[in-house]
Amino acid sequence: MRLTGTSHIGSQGHLTIGGCDTVELAKTFGTPLYVYDEALIRENSRRFVKSFEQSGFAFQVAYASKAFSCIAMAQLAAEENLSLDVVSSGELYTALQAGFPAERIHFHGNNKSEEELRMALEAGVGCYVVDNFYEMALLHDLASASGIQVNVMLRLTPGIEVHTHEYISTGQEDSKFGFGVADGQAMLAIRQALAKTHFNLLGIHVHIGSQIFDTTGFVEAIKVIREFLDSVRKETGYEVKVLNLGGGFGIRYTDEDDPVEIETFVETITQEVAAAWSKRNLPNPEIWIEPGRGIVGNAGTTLYSVGSIKQIPGIRTYVAVDGGMTDNIRPALYQAKYEALLANKASMVATETVSIAGKCCESGDMLIWDIDLPQVTSGDILAVLSTGAYGYSMASNYNRLRRPAVVFVRDGIADLVVERETYEDLVRHDRKRSVLSNIV
Ligand code: LLP
Repeated sequence: MRLTGTSHIGSQGHLTIGGCDTVELAKTFGTPLYVYDEALIRENSRRFVKSFEQSGFAFQVAYASKAFSCIAMAQLAAEENLSLDVVSSGELYTALQAGFPAERIHFHGNNKSEEELRMALEAGVGCYVVDNFYEMALLHDLASASGIQVNVMLRLTPGIEVHTHEYISTGQEDSKFGFGVADGQAMLAIRQALAKTHFNLLGIHVHIGSQIFDTTGFVEAIKVIREFLDSVRKETGYEVKVLNLGGGFGIRYTDEDDPVEIETFVETITQEVAAAWSKRNLPNPEIWIEPGRGIVGNAGTTLYSVGSIKQIPGIRTYVAVDGGMTDNIRPALYQAKYEALLANKASMVATETVSIAGKCCESGDMLIWDIDLPQVTSGDILAVLSTGAYGYSMASNYNRLRRPAVVFVRDGIADLVVERETYEDLVRHDRKRSVLSNIV
């Protein structure tokens, strides 16, 4: 196991993050608790930004807020000069509440509603990534009714299969997202967008999938897109100003994962684009990307308290924690694997193999199968690593569990940025029956 960022084992044999003892954090804020290493979020962001600066390309690095959205995270992204990818009015609202500059917000999604588009138009969102013909017409009607000009990109489906879980693979032709390149929809969409008086067509967008470990898919996407753009040029004379290559940069969850470094992703992308464009004597386009996991994934750790321990002789030991699929659905949904350690016994050697169970009423609510740990006892604090992406953002209230709190840690200071839900929160929207039953 490799600890990342500011995580290390402190003098008491406890896991510390951002100079904070995680055992103390668990005591102060309760468990389950999401702990984010602020310095590591900033470092990841800067690695993307710096790599682009070195490439000489004009660029935007948009943090994909779906990976982890809350006001504090949007503030952090703003401080790091990132742009922001939002996919719903809820993510947009969160960004606006954080004071995130609207002109650096990109609005995504395959079914933006009229209400959502109106909200975005009112806020002055910087770019709309149009996904389909329905949205194209709706957005243009709304923009022209308000007499405003909007920046638009078209999301294309390049017909590329990447090696990742099928639920998070999006570039293939048979996808709910985007205009297909192979089936002619993309060309039609370009023609339509160019004809729309209230659109400023910035360029095109592709997102080939998530948790991608190598550069092959990106290289292939650039090739497909450039060839498509050649025919667009021939047929319409249009050339893109911006090429948005989406997110998907993989991270290391366990020793089995071996993603290339952030710098390699950016270098490969920029070199490929530079080569493809210069071959055609075209000036470099601006490149935008949208990392979510790559910015927050390895910066998050979830702390749990160990409760019941069930030993089935000769079969398995189930160590149950006070959270599970409600705060991390990824093992149940994608068979995702994680590493963990006992935060209060971090320097002790592993002596047993156990499996970590969640507390939900589902046999599938298992966080980790077969992990080697020191002797586990009830009351220990289990730290599951690299839970920063798609943990909190996909959390639920299944079994009416309260969603955990989130703290940002830095230089020995823990900043509570999301409070733990209360019982009142759970019933806030419930209403007692207003119609009395006539059954006696
Ligand atoms: N841009 C677009 C258009 C996307 O659809 C996504 C992710 C991203 C950017 C950010 O991708 P990232 O850099 O985080 O891989 N819940 C799944 C991941 C779903 C990703 C959806 N789209 C998981 O937990 O693995």
